Amino acid sequence: MSPGTALLVGGSSEIGMAVLLPLLGPAPRQVILAGRPSGELWWNAERLRDAGYSVSTTQYDAGLNVEEIDGMLEHACAEHPLELAIVAVGSMSSTSFADGVVVNGFGVSLLLRALVHRKPEQIVLLSSAAAVRPRQSIAAYSLGKQLADSTAVLLSRQAADTGVRVLVVRPGFVQTRMTADLKKPPFATSPDRVGRRVAAAVEARKSIVWVPGVMGLVVRVLNLVPRRLLPEAWR
Ligand SMILES: NC(=O)c1ccc[n+]([C@@H]2O[C@H](COP(=O)([O-])OP(=O)(O)OC[C@H]3O[C@@H](n4cnc5c(N)ncnc54)[C@H](OP(=O)(O)O)[C@@H]3O)[C@@H](O)[C@H]2O)c1
Repeated sequence: MSPGTALLVGGSSEIGMAVLLPLLGPAPRQVILAGRPSGELWWNAERLRDAGYSVSTTQYDAGLNVEEIDGMLEHACAEHPLELAIVAVGSMSSTSFADGVVVNGFGVSLLLRALVHRKPEQIVLLSSAAAVRPRQSIAAYSLGKQLADSTAVLLSRQAADTGVRVLVVRPGFVQTRMTADLKKPPFATSPDRVGRRVAAAVEARKSIVWVPGVMGLVVRVLNLVPRRLLPEAWR
């Protein structure tokens, strides 16, 4: 990875940080954490500064329109061109169905398109297994992830000629604050494991990676089983 600007959108995210760190390479390097102001965002920035990176933060909210996203990226990348962008925005606790679809899907799709125009070397989208296996209990989250995932897959094909690589990451259940109140299912994994698998996938120039690897097969099999035969939470 060449040493241009590295951007993490969803700068407070646990998985986002675990994906960013192995991809950063040695300090010094310009790192930008974009997100809503929070203790987690500042703490992540401090961690990176302690490791020797030059860190700044900028505001990102899923409700930004196209012009506002472009303005945010223009400002964030004014000093060094964008080389690496990780999109870790997502929420299972949106206040309404519409908000859930916007935060997880529409907003992320606009962001991905704006990022591709900046021609970074690598974009990483934290999608979800729910993008391929939508569940009733998390309908807005699933629909949003389907939109974001499909946008990234299409952009990955379109952008290949311009040298921009897009990696779509589809984790199953990852133990973070997002899932802290949920029962741990089979094949649950950790942010660090996601980070290691993403680093290997970037190295191998892949465009899709499941975490854990078996999750792709699990989802294919589950999609063949009649939903009425499955526990309610899996439908
Ligand atoms: N944990 C899992 O089991 C799992 C599984 C598959 C995929 N994923 C995906 O992995 C990514 C990271 O998740 P995580 O587990 O690390 O959870 P997390 O720590 O809660 O990270 C989610 C990020 O999304 C941001 N976000 C949420 N709503 C937003 C909004 N309206 N505007 C701007 N930013 C917003 C959060 O910022 P704030 O701090 O401001 O809320 C946070 O930075 C997400 O895309 C998630 O869907 C997670």
